[in-house]
Amino acid sequence: MLPDRQGMSLKRVALLGATGSIGRQAIEIISARDDLDLCGLMSGSRPLDALGAANGTAHTQIGGSAVSLLEACEPDIVLNAIVGFAGVEATLWALEQGVTLALANKESLVAAGELAVAAHRRGGGLLLPVDSEHSALFQCLEGRDPQTVEALVLTASGGPFRGRSRGDLAHVTVAEALAHPTWSMGQKISVDSATLANKGLELIEAHWLFGIPYAQIEVVVHPGSIVHSLVRFRDGALLAHLGIPDMRVPISFALGYPDRPALAVEPLDLSGGLDLRFEAVDGETFPLLPLARAAGERGGTAPCAYNAANEVAVAAFLEGRAGFLAIADTVAAALDEVDCSPARDLDDLVAADAGARRAAERRVVLG
Ligand SMILES: NC(=O)c1ccc[n+]([C@@H]2O[C@H](COP(=O)([O-])OP(=O)(O)OC[C@H]3O[C@@H](n4cnc5c(N)ncnc54)[C@H](OP(=O)(O)O)[C@@H]3O)[C@@H](O)[C@H]2O)c1
Repeated sequence: MLPDRQGMSLKRVALLGATGSIGRQAIEIISARDDLDLCGLMSGSRPLDALGAANGTAHTQIGGSAVSLLEACEPDIVLNAIVGFAGVEATLWALEQGVTLALANKESLVAAGELAVAAHRRGGGLLLPVDSEHSALFQCLEGRDPQTVEALVLTASGGPFRGRSRGDLAHVTVAEALAHPTWSMGQKISVDSATLANKGLELIEAHWLFGIPYAQIEVVVHPGSIVHSLVRFRDGALLAHLGIPDMRVPISFALGYPDRPALAVEPLDLSGGLDLRFEAVDGETFPLLPLARAAGERGGTAPCAYNAANEVAVAAFLEGRAGFLAIADTVAAALDEVDCSPARDLDDLVAADAGARRAAERRVVLG
């Protein structure tokens, strides 16, 4: 589906995960734009009455199947900002229907990559990444011949524990793990940033979004979070996307594509000197990144299992049932245990997700 270029036409946006960090920033953007109408709102458990009333939204839903809300509100754009595997159904629905999908919920593309690519091909709609790194890559790649791309380079801030050794991380607290140095985000993605599982999920997300083999996707630590990602071309040139770390920028880009509407954000002060340091990733201290690469390369439902086990382990860490280092140990143990044959459909995927969750829970209990 080609983008709607008819100037004044109103686009109907369904916002899933409306009460979250991305959801709240999206509402701020949509409210300030007269070409966007919030036709549907969804949360997992928090109330939506006030949000719905404030935005004149006819369709709201708390929990349950996102598909029933989406069918009722008939959106032109689905902004999927649900956290975790719970977002899979909405991603597959939007791609299959050819409805523009602004995707923050990276877990759905990680878990359902093959099914999502096939649904996208059938549906023919737009798939626009909201993750800042993938929005950056999308913009650097736009209009380029894929043959000219040598590698995608994902940047990682390194999280709150950058520079620490594995031994240093044995007793870190939840509060320390949530204290991200450059981004303010929901709890799950903040812990994922501390373990580098977030970069692992993003590696798999980039593979499916851009159809680039894992061997051509690099990850580099960039503590300043100013360079959101880069593309290395075969002639030696690198294109980078720079900006202050502010998720409203990629959210606005996806919701306004291809028009790049104005947005009031703090300008990047180039004259003050930029922190453009880059470092190698410490895969020994942060094994969830190499584990994600291995799961991606293994294929089938291995990325789904990686994601499911990580969700279980992060929840256990946040609830005080597991230590920080147990997160990676749990994911590794679950991946060793499960069968990763490919999913033929959503039912297969749900079964693979459930199996990996059970394996991860057993591991958490055993310690
Ligand atoms: N935050 C960021 O800066 C950022 C950046 C890049 C990508 N992302 C991605 O965006 C997604 C959302 O992140 P976030 O930080 O905004 O998370 P968050 O603050 O934890 O918000 C999660 C949202 O998902 C909703 N939700 C949870 N389970 C649900 C279910 N079963 N059905 C429907 N809604 C459900 C929550 O509803 P309740 O409030 O009712 O629980 C909440 O609205 C994640 O996939 C994350 O990786 C986030």
